[in-house]
Amino acid sequence: AAEALAPDHWSGPQDGFAAALAGCTRCPLHHGATQAVPGDGPATAALMIVGEQPGDLEDLQGRPFVGPAGQVLDAALQAAGVPRAEVYLTNAVKHFKYVTRGKRRIHQRPNTSEVHHCRWWLEAELARVRPRLVLALGATAALALTGDGAGVMRRRGTLERGRHGGDVLLSLHPAHILRTPDAAEQDRLRADLVADLAAAHRIAS
Ligand code: URA
Repeated sequence: AAEALAPDHWSGPQDGFAAALAGCTRCPLHHGATQAVPGDGPATAALMIVGEQPGDLEDLQGRPFVGPAGQVLDAALQAAGVPRAEVYLTNAVKHFKYVTRGKRRIHQRPNTSEVHHCRWWLEAELARVRPRLVLALGATAALALTGDGAGVMRRRGTLERGRHGGDVLLSLHPAHILRTPDAAEQDRLRADLVADLAAAHRIAS
């Protein structure tokens, strides 16, 4: 059964945003993806969190951060005391980009042109939600929001001015933690992500 959505929940069917996004052909990524994945959360959210793009499960389910990276993010949100239901979660790129290997679909990072074309939708979400703060997870989100995707690990935890005119806090992407082989380094990265989420929540409140 469909879960009951709060009246201010976005981007539900009531807005037309998801329907418009579903027909997007601004870049070639729509050819391979199952569906475009719109953002998810209250239209009145004070904090917007922006990831890279939907992964395999997000592409199938049509919701952001429901796969393995989403589980890392959920645990970090919980550790930081940030209720997921209060946050507007979205991605810099709305279609899943991948290559097929056997039966598996392997994630590929979106290129600058794909990020550029998809900014139209991210700008629409920013204009609608008007969050007090945006938290950018990883290089693709940093590129989309600030115009610069370089050196995110150096820039993390710092506030920057976004192209939309609002504040952007940079952090690392939860999938980066999953790709890190060393357990002690994973723990350090998790602690960084939790600290950035807590700081973002504080600044946005
Ligand atoms: N990674 C992202 O950046 N976004 C998602 O929605 C899932 C995985």
